[in-house]
Amino acid sequence: MKKTVLTGIRPTGNLHIGHYFGASKRWVMYQDEYNCYFEIADVQALTDNFDNPEKVRKNVYELAIDLLSIGIDPKKSTIFLQSAIPEIAELTVYYSNLVTMARLYRNPTVKTEIAQKKALFGNEGESVTYGFVGYPVSQAADITAFMGEAVPVGEDQLPLVEQCREIVRKFNSIYGKTLIEPEAVLGKNPRIKGLDGNEKMGKSLGNAIYLNDSPSVIHDKVMGAITDPKKIRKDDPADPNKCMVYYYHKLFSGDEVETVCKECKNGERGCVFCKKQLIENICKYLEPIREKREYYLQHMDEVQKILEEGSKKAREKASITLKNVKKAMKINYFDE
Ligand code: TRP
Ligand code: SF4
Repeated sequence: MKKTVLTGIRPTGNLHIGHYFGASKRWVMYQDEYNCYFEIADVQALTDNFDNPEKVRKNVYELAIDLLSIGIDPKKSTIFLQSAIPEIAELTVYYSNLVTMARLYRNPTVKTEIAQKKALFGNEGESVTYGFVGYPVSQAADITAFMGEAVPVGEDQLPLVEQCREIVRKFNSIYGKTLIEPEAVLGKNPRIKGLDGNEKMGKSLGNAIYLNDSPSVIHDKVMGAITDPKKIRKDDPADPNKCMVYYYHKLFSGDEVETVCKECKNGERGCVFCKKQLIENICKYLEPIREKREYYLQHMDEVQKILEEGSKKAREKASITLKNVKKAMKINYFDE
């Protein structure tokens, strides 16, 4: 039996290279080895965007296209929409008894997000909803509904997987062994820095390179990237480890990286040349992804069908889990 891998992503914007190298590049490889489920977490996106459903809807399709473009293959894996699986919502209700409010508020990811909301809206009471504070419970339902064993995610998601594990343990200890305790799987680049050197790349930080950025946008972004501030003239030696251009060369430039490093240290390369080389490599790297994106944009009916069929398949699996859960909880009144 192949191991079951489940992961999810919120449809709140296009994928950037932080998502890609931090997590989704590995998802593509996992497809051959594991039984993979990829969830477009639209219900979770609504916890933050309940007043902007158009945005979530648009991004569902954008994300689906991004996933297909990087090589998530509906013939190998199941791509589905969270909102199309009512079993997840039902499991969320049952799990919600197993988590205290205090524990949810202590979740480091939730804590950070509440701090961000406070900074943005001032008044916590207005912006921190019941649905938002409870999203880790709903995420535990996402994972367990499919009996996910491995959850490949970026570093920021570790507290959510940990909370899921606690819910599973509690469920199993009260109602009998029913659910599988999942494990988070981190890649070797769990977090990718932003163009400005910030530890995190993110849309709200304005420091991201998107997989669908055009070559001219990539050009402008890389030209503005932070380099070693000590390097003023073209032939000044510099420290590549203080330079974001070098940091991205390590992701995109393969064998050329050593030369970049050596020449930079020796004052044998100018930053403009170095940036142009990086721009070229990023564009080359992203070109096949852009081509596939163009294809799917022209074939939206295919995208729609992939989501519909994936969701149908996902629902079959989730309904088995729900049945087991209800049986364990002794609320299976009408099952034969
Ligand atoms: N919380 C994740 C994010 O912000 C998305 C997500 C939803 C997820 N359900 C999941 C991740 C299940 C892993 C497993 O992107
Ligand atoms: Fe960065 Fe390249 Fe300039 Fe060195 S030469 S500081 S690696 S841009």
